[in-house]
Amino acid sequence: MAPKWTPDSWRSKPVLQVPEYPDTNALHVVEERLRTYPPLVFAGEARALKNRLASVSRGEAFLLQGGDCAESFAEHGADNIRDFFRVFLQMAVVLTFAAAKPVVKVGRIAGQFAKPRSSDFEKLGDETLPSYRGDIINGIDFSPESRLPDPQRQIMAYRQSAATLNLLRAFAQGGFANLEHVHEWMLGFIENSPQSERYRQLADRLSETLRFMKAVGFSAEESPRLRETEFYTSHEALLLGYEEALTRVDSTSGDYYATSGHMVWIGDRTRQPDHGHVEFFKGIKNPIGMKCGPSIEPDGLLELIDILNPENEPGRLTLIARFGADKVGSHLPKLIRAVQREGKNVVWSCDPMHGNTITSATGYKTRPFERVLTEVQEFFAVHRAEGTYPGGVHFEMTGKDVTECTGGAHAITDENLKDRYHTHCDPRLNASQALELAFLVCELLQDKEANESSKIAVNG
Ligand code: PEP
Ligand code: CO
Repeated sequence: MAPKWTPDSWRSKPVLQVPEYPDTNALHVVEERLRTYPPLVFAGEARALKNRLASVSRGEAFLLQGGDCAESFAEHGADNIRDFFRVFLQMAVVLTFAAAKPVVKVGRIAGQFAKPRSSDFEKLGDETLPSYRGDIINGIDFSPESRLPDPQRQIMAYRQSAATLNLLRAFAQGGFANLEHVHEWMLGFIENSPQSERYRQLADRLSETLRFMKAVGFSAEESPRLRETEFYTSHEALLLGYEEALTRVDSTSGDYYATSGHMVWIGDRTRQPDHGHVEFFKGIKNPIGMKCGPSIEPDGLLELIDILNPENEPGRLTLIARFGADKVGSHLPKLIRAVQREGKNVVWSCDPMHGNTITSATGYKTRPFERVLTEVQEFFAVHRAEGTYPGGVHFEMTGKDVTECTGGAHAITDENLKDRYHTHCDPRLNASQALELAFLVCELLQDKEANESSKIAVNG
């Protein structure tokens, strides 16, 4: 018989990408303290998200997941949260309209603090120091003191997550998400976009629809559903000690839930079937994601699906494909076929960020907008060819006007990158690039609708 799962059973397995804390006693004290803190989310909410994702897996809804690569302690202001949420809502509205389906909104926020790194060390001049692993672990400053893992940072990350979540809940329920405002903001974006002609048609149709709805009595003033929205949080559950401390038994079901966020995912570097991360994810009942990069093969994927979702529960598992624009066409079809052949219920989502990172001529880590878009287009094309549903997208983005990814309608160049390069980790789409990408995904969604209706017409 397999040994019983417990929130700490991961501790008996190999674990990658976690830091060596110099003072294990201090770490233990922090973890004990976190165990006594209130959960950040409620199990019922995680179950509601799982139900929403189940409808995505049936092709009845679309997933929009996005936010920072790494949240930081330094950038924890209301403006940042508000600006992110404002762009995210606009993206969701245009996608809802284009897909004619509900859009499940999941932020990479209120907990996205721990980062896997390709190298354990960073070299600058003659000095070599441990890599930065996210604000929940160590500091970004290049000094030996700052790079030392400090357990107190977990308490700070918990508190920041709680404050962020509190504001997001207020925004989602308190009127900020009013559809009429979101529509106005979106029109402002179009005014300022060099590509405005391309997006205008969709925007005009949406404006017309809203006018019609108002005329027949559906105004935001009278209909709560037009002024409120459902928003969920997610992050990579990398730092297992922190996650374990926030894993609690849900009194309604008797099941364990990670209460650090609604959805958590396993990164591409930590999904070994016999390692600690997979062990931890196995036992929590949240909806979970798993990143799938070029090293995953069909058999390995099926093995992981069986471990992580043995009951084949729809909505439990989202596979987040992140191959790179030049690899998605050769890697994704065989995985989709294996999943289809075995009748596995999954959500397929596309992360067009992590396979498209390059170093610019000016020395910055960047992502060309064109390549990001190409990966999304290829992802949709592969699903169309396989007859499967492209369920969602996963972006690294911010609501600020940063210059981290090149290209887009405002044509950010390699030279521009230095102007406002603020990320603590990977380059993010700025507000206008993110919204532009949403409009371009709309074209794909509508293309798909057109394709489906022509298929029905041919078949019928
Ligand atoms: C991330 O999402 O920031 C990340 C590190 O992704 P991946 O595990 O796909 O490399
Ligand atoms: Co990243």
